[in-house]
Amino acid sequence: MIGARLESMLNGGPVFEPGSVWLVGAGPGDPGYLTVNAIRALHQADTILHDALIDDRILDLARPEAHRIFSGKRAGVHSIDQAALCARMIGLARSGQRVLRLKGGDPMIFGRGGEEMLRLAEAGIPFRIIPGVTAGLAAMAVASIPATLRDVNRAVVFATGHEAADTGETDWAALAMLGQPLVLYMALRRLNGIAHRLIAGGMPPETPLAVISSATRSDEDILISSLGTVAEDRRRHAIEPPAIVVIGEIVKTRERLLQVAPAFAGALV
Ligand SMILES: C[S@@+](CC[C@H](N)C(=O)[O-])C[C@H]1O[C@@H](n2cnc3c(N)ncnc32)[C@H](O)[C@@H]1O
Repeated sequence: MIGARLESMLNGGPVFEPGSVWLVGAGPGDPGYLTVNAIRALHQADTILHDALIDDRILDLARPEAHRIFSGKRAGVHSIDQAALCARMIGLARSGQRVLRLKGGDPMIFGRGGEEMLRLAEAGIPFRIIPGVTAGLAAMAVASIPATLRDVNRAVVFATGHEAADTGETDWAALAMLGQPLVLYMALRRLNGIAHRLIAGGMPPETPLAVISSATRSDEDILISSLGTVAEDRRRHAIEPPAIVVIGEIVKTRERLLQVAPAFAGALV
């Protein structure tokens, strides 16, 4: 049973006006990482355009009469193209619907939320952004790897490993020179090549590396490796997407944790 304060919190907050679009982050997978505002959005929406990999337990928080439209990728291919998706969102809003665009993680990092926001603004559609817990931060947390640690790093880089036709290839040599941890999204398929380029750019092959797959989901999996051995380690320990790759000394914090508190071993994958 939920208490009166929690109930009033869930019932309060911003009102989802008819004719508007909310771009909402659903977090990394487990419904426990939803924000209160995301739950409020699900309670009020008329139509939900959702990505792949959104847990049914999250979608089931929507009103039963809400219309759900799958708008994600299947087998790496967008089910509908981005322009068509934006046109559909705009059309639904113009017809007076409360349109919820539900995305994995946070909508504004590697999720096309920025593009969708600009299209909505150009079309004069009122919108709101509801941030979510991004996979990079959630993956590090489940692996007991902090994003920053005072004696280790003063910055952290979030980058995509996906080479897009429109944005080109990341300058891996420049990232290698920063000496700060790299948190890579969509990097698993090209990881061996990326590791090779980082080493060629001056990053030591001994640099610790973690691959965290399906963070917060029941099939969560973690591989601890190094830049120089990751290709071989992946042959021994197959690890599947979706995954986050963390590269840098910060990964060693997991080992430090085990040294100071071996009892945590059971809590680590
Ligand atoms: C298109 S990006 C979307 C990122 C999303 N906007 C976010 O903030 O997490 C998809 C990538 O996010 C990462 N990802 C998403 N969910 C994940 C999870 N539960 N565990 C590990 N990586 C995940 C993977 O790198 C995947 O290829």
